[in-house]
Amino acid sequence: MSTPPAAGLRVFITGASSGLGAALAARYAAQGATLGLLARRAFTAPLPHPDRHRHYQADVRDHAAIAAAAQDFIAHAGGIDIVIANAGISHGTLTELPEDLPVFDAIFATNVTATVATFAPFIAAMRAQGAGTLVGIASVAGVRGMPGSGAYSASKAAVATYCESLRLEMREYGIKVVTIAPGYIDTPMTQQNAYPMPFLLAPERFAERAVRTIARGTRYTVIPWQMGVVAKLLRMLPDALYDLAFARAPRKARKNAP
Ligand SMILES: NC(=O)c1ccc[n+]([C@@H]2O[C@H](COP(=O)([O-])OP(=O)(O)OC[C@H]3O[C@@H](n4cnc5c(N)ncnc54)[C@H](OP(=O)(O)O)[C@@H]3O)[C@@H](O)[C@H]2O)c1
Repeated sequence: MSTPPAAGLRVFITGASSGLGAALAARYAAQGATLGLLARRAFTAPLPHPDRHRHYQADVRDHAAIAAAAQDFIAHAGGIDIVIANAGISHGTLTELPEDLPVFDAIFATNVTATVATFAPFIAAMRAQGAGTLVGIASVAGVRGMPGSGAYSASKAAVATYCESLRLEMREYGIKVVTIAPGYIDTPMTQQNAYPMPFLLAPERFAERAVRTIARGTRYTVIPWQMGVVAKLLRMLPDALYDLAFARAPRKARKNAP
């Protein structure tokens, strides 16, 4: 089946109240898309054609709430073209501190299990259409285990591997699975980082590139491309060298409440 035209796309985005999700929403809305936007906070930024879009104030860890939002959006929009499981959280964690165990749970529930719960209720409609694109948001931080970020790095590695499994499962239905691994994008998530962030990109520039990647159905992409080169080098680095170079890498701030 052919890819639908950019105008008129039906796009469901989680984590749309901030950062990458809000920038993606603005980009698709400017193209004339019909949007389903989900987050715990209300989405306040003005969008073109506001009457066309549906807002769902929900926690992605509430799987029944996502399923209800999905059902409502499919009925409202008359189908679904793109689902972007973008909602995510990032906190430093240390395994040796018992108070960080609930943070590990929260990060996995929000970044990994909620990605599954976001895609699942749309698959039947996409199968019936014989087309659709599911988009997972991984991270360059998932390419190798970063010190002090065991939960976040592992969660994003899990997103990338899960999306790869899903891509093969969806192939026979004509459904594409796109994995995007952002490098550093200037959002509230990274604004708290007290260390240099190479190739930092504005969310609007990220969204431009992500929308093109999604339209092409690219299997796996790092945005910006410069961080893709860094990711490839990181992957190739022998463990002993990686340990030497990264044991003292700057660490993300811890948070000990989910
Ligand atoms: N910024 C970067 O450099 C970067 C790099 C790599 C990967 N990423 C990934 O990109 C995605 C977006 O991050 P961002 O930088 O845009 O961060 P952000 O500005 O902090 O936005 C995160 C979004 O996720 C939503 N969210 C978090 N927990 C949620 C929950 N339990 N239920 C519903 N929504 C929830 C937030 O909405 P509410 O708080 O309103 O619920 C917010 O809209 C994340 O998956 C992140 O891991 C970002």
